[in-house]
Amino acid sequence: MELKAAIQKRTSVRVFKDEKVPVQDLKEMVRLAGLAPSVNNYQPWKYIAVINKEVLNRMADTIARKIAELPLKKTVASKNIITQVTWFSTFFKDAPAVLALVIEPYETVLESGTDLSHEEINKTRNYPDIQSAGASIQNLLLSAVDMGYAACWMSGPMIARKEIEEILGIKPPSSLLAFIAIGKSRSEPRPKEKPNLADSLVIIN
Ligand SMILES: Cc1cc2nc3c(=O)[nH]c(=O)nc-3n(C[C@H](O)[C@H](O)[C@H](O)COP(=O)(O)O)c2cc1C
Repeated sequence: MELKAAIQKRTSVRVFKDEKVPVQDLKEMVRLAGLAPSVNNYQPWKYIAVINKEVLNRMADTIARKIAELPLKKTVASKNIITQVTWFSTFFKDAPAVLALVIEPYETVLESGTDLSHEEINKTRNYPDIQSAGASIQNLLLSAVDMGYAACWMSGPMIARKEIEEILGIKPPSSLLAFIAIGKSRSEPRPKEKPNLADSLVIIN
C-alpha cells in the first residue's frame, strides 16, 4: 500500500473480529515500529504483546475498578461519562491482541558531560523518550493498516498504570506508556473528518 493511502485509511478501531493476529504479524509490526526516529537512535521502548484473555480481562477489571474509585460529581451526566470512559479504557479486553509500549531508559551525551540527572535532562529536552515512543506507535499503526489490520492507540488504561505494570512485570526504571489494541476491524473502517486542519499550520516568513 502507498504510504499516503495508509495514512488516509488509518482510523481508530475499537471493535474487532474474533480472529487471532499471528505472532509473526505482531513481530513484523513491531519491527517496522522500531524503524521510527528516536532520541540518539536509542529506540527507548519495548513492546509487550498480550494475547492471553485472562491477562486482558484482569487488566480491564483493574482499570474499571480504578475508574469507579474516581471522585464522582453527583450528576446523571457524570455517571454517563464514567460509563463511557470505562468502555473507552477497557474495550481492549475483546481485542485479539494488545501491545503495551514500555519506555526504556536511554542516555544522552549531556549525561556524561554535566552534573544534571537523567530526569532533569529528559525534562529539559521535553521528554524525548515519550516523543520517540509516539513516532514508534504511529509507525506501528500505519504498518497495521498496511498489513490489513486495524488498531487503536490507548492512554485511558494508564489510569491503572502501576497495577498494570505489576501484572505485566514491568519494573523501574522501565515504565508503561500506552496500549495499542490490534485486530481485524469488524466493519469497514471509515476515517474521521479532521475539522481543524486549516488551523494547524503557521508559517513564519
Ligand atoms: C495519545 C492518544 C491516546 C488515546 N487514548 C485513547 C483511549 O484511551 N481510548 C480510545 O478509545 N481512544 C484513544 N485514542 C484514540 C483517539 O480517540 C483517536 O485517535 C481520535 O479520536 C481521532 O480518531 P482517529 O484515530 O480515528 O483519527 C487515543 C489517541 C492518542 C493519540
